[in-house]
Amino acid sequence: MRLFSARLIVSLIIGVTLVSLCSAGYEVYVGKRNLRRDLQHRAQVLGESLSGNVDRDLEKGAVRTLNRTVQRFDHRENLLGLAVYDPDGHVLAMSDDLVPRMGTIPPPAVTQALKDMQQGSSFQRLADVPVYILVLPLRGQDKSGEEKFLGLLAIVHDAGFIRAQSLRIWRETFLNALAHIMLIVFITLLIVRWSIEGPIARTAHWMRALRTGRMPPSRIGAPDVALFRPLAREVATFAESLNSARTAAAREARLRAAGQSQWTAERLAADIKTRVGSGRLFVVSNREPYMHMRARRSVEVTVPPSGLVTALEPVLCASDGTWIAHGSGTADREACDRHGRLRVPPEDPRYTLRRVWLTKEEEEGYYYGFANEGLWPLCHIAHTRPIFRAEDWEQYQKVNRKFADAVLEEMKETDKPMVLVQDYHFGLLPRMIKEKRPDARVAIFWHIPWPNPEAFGICPWQKELVDGLLGADLIGFHIQAHCENFLQTADRVVESRIDREHSSIRRGDHITTVHPFPISVAATELPIDDSDESAYETRSGLLKAFDIEALFLGVGVDRLDYTKGILERFLAIERFLEKYPRYQGQFTFVQIGAPSRTHLKRYHDLEAEIEVEAGRINWRFQRDKWKPIVLLKRQHSHKEILPYYQAADLCLVTALHDGMNLVAKEFVASRLDASGVLILSIFTGAARELRDALLVNPYNIDQTADAIRTALEMDPQEKQERMQRMQRTIWENNIYRWAERLITELSELRLDVVEEVEKTRLPA
Ligand code: G6P
Repeated sequence: MRLFSARLIVSLIIGVTLVSLCSAGYEVYVGKRNLRRDLQHRAQVLGESLSGNVDRDLEKGAVRTLNRTVQRFDHRENLLGLAVYDPDGHVLAMSDDLVPRMGTIPPPAVTQALKDMQQGSSFQRLADVPVYILVLPLRGQDKSGEEKFLGLLAIVHDAGFIRAQSLRIWRETFLNALAHIMLIVFITLLIVRWSIEGPIARTAHWMRALRTGRMPPSRIGAPDVALFRPLAREVATFAESLNSARTAAAREARLRAAGQSQWTAERLAADIKTRVGSGRLFVVSNREPYMHMRARRSVEVTVPPSGLVTALEPVLCASDGTWIAHGSGTADREACDRHGRLRVPPEDPRYTLRRVWLTKEEEEGYYYGFANEGLWPLCHIAHTRPIFRAEDWEQYQKVNRKFADAVLEEMKETDKPMVLVQDYHFGLLPRMIKEKRPDARVAIFWHIPWPNPEAFGICPWQKELVDGLLGADLIGFHIQAHCENFLQTADRVVESRIDREHSSIRRGDHITTVHPFPISVAATELPIDDSDESAYETRSGLLKAFDIEALFLGVGVDRLDYTKGILERFLAIERFLEKYPRYQGQFTFVQIGAPSRTHLKRYHDLEAEIEVEAGRINWRFQRDKWKPIVLLKRQHSHKEILPYYQAADLCLVTALHDGMNLVAKEFVASRLDASGVLILSIFTGAARELRDALLVNPYNIDQTADAIRTALEMDPQEKQERMQRMQRTIWENNIYRWAERLITELSELRLDVVEEVEKTRLPA
């Protein structure tokens, strides 16, 4: 480091000196040129003003007057004096001060001007003094009126001041450069110490802790070397890889020792590699795993917060698969080739992302219209009326066809491919793919609830949708109840045979299996508390940022969606404070809400309603440094949400209807201290697994209010036992297990099963 600093300083000194020299050289050159021009100009003006009089005196032969004139100009500002010569070069008059310098022999400038009978000038030395001599011809008229050459007027200026001026500039420059060098060296040393030496030493310390395994995984982040950002990123990625490898190895060893089989990203990747074999895996979803967004002057890659990416990325990486999704990022087109393909993840490309481009009209009809104004409220019983427009349906079919074409193109070269279609945006896709590629194994996972046949029956295109879905070999829902609803709907809507024992549907010569696969979060470890801060300290720190003081903290995390029961939740908080006033001034609820689908009026209005309701309740109760509700209305990263999960006394999940609800599972998985209480709506898929939550009907405001009190007053031992049981459930059924079950089942289905059944039937 010292050598580095010394080299840096020497380079800086050389650099600054060179720059100063060049700039001084130029300044001297320009200054000299200007002074010379000024001197020449002054001499010229003086010469021209004098020559008229001198001409006349010469013509008249008035030598005495001439002498007087010449003496008058003896030694004025830089003027050494004047001399008048006759045409033969004899001195007619000369300033006294000039005599010892000029003598009687005319200098070369005068001799030359006599020869040419023209004006002349020169910078030269006279008796070792630098001078400027301007020589002007003197003319008159002879008797016949003809012009006649009378002699020369020489004006002699002292040019020594020009040199003095140049020396002064050089001296000043030298002193300036010296001051600059000292200042720059001083500042550089400070910068090196603060911005380079310090961070580098910290990074080295950080890397040592990492190498020796002394750093807990939760503390891994980019080291503090902002000056070398690209390097910092690489080091952080490297550290993460190193740490995940170490964690994976340790986990494997632990599992082996315990004889347990827990699913991890590594185990999933290895398992799927053998299962998928030469056939590759294709994932289709509306949202893409990586989005390129135009920032001020650059392009940023963002990963939309989604459990799906966590689960499917290891599988796609292991099988060099392809993810097909809507390219909706503002700089998406620039980031891929002309087929819409690019390799991801950006820092370690191992699978292909194929982007599908949609027009505004297509996005409006397919995504906003049919999927989110039609199917979303249709499948969620949350009392928002679905809107079905023929134009939206048309776009939905068109976009499903567009995606099917993209999938077929991507799998052209692949034998027996596997396709995992995601969600309600692609109800028609399974049949479109299977019609062209019967050898493909196609599964669709429906991430939202499936309602009963009566409720689904209001969809004008229910038959087409059910038929499209039945093109799949496997349909997945979160819970058994949704599977049952689907079997009943298919039974009513299309010609089919239902096999309840195997939970499958036969339509024509194709069989579709319908099974539940409860999705989860990436929990791979029973959490260990390695934080130095207590939940209480974190809690007051978080609230302090909003200038609030409270003893108890509740948290809610949702997309701002009418299915999430946020208004009901606020009413329950109001009721709780009303019923148990001793908690006024004590309990604050932080609602983290990510604006969503705001282009749709229903969502736009909801945002305003939520804000008004929070404002009303706050206005009613707030006092001094306390208020009951803090509404944080923006997208938060998982990292930002984590401290709230970890510090809260309770988490409120009051969805009116939800396929699964991963917030409930994330809260449980985040509780390092195995404390905190989950209050969970019975209308979520998660409620089937997390039986140790306080289960509530969100429409029953009093019940939720009471649950808040129960949670706050629960015995710590009970809290811990409940939380640990839920953590074990999530740990055993994490998202890797979800992906493994879905893919394993799809890979083991027998596609030829109908023909076999027919064959065994024929002889009979
Ligand atoms: C639900 C859906 C997902 C969807 C997500 C976010 O969880 O099941 O498919 O991606 O909401 O909604 P958005 O419309 O923003 O993708």
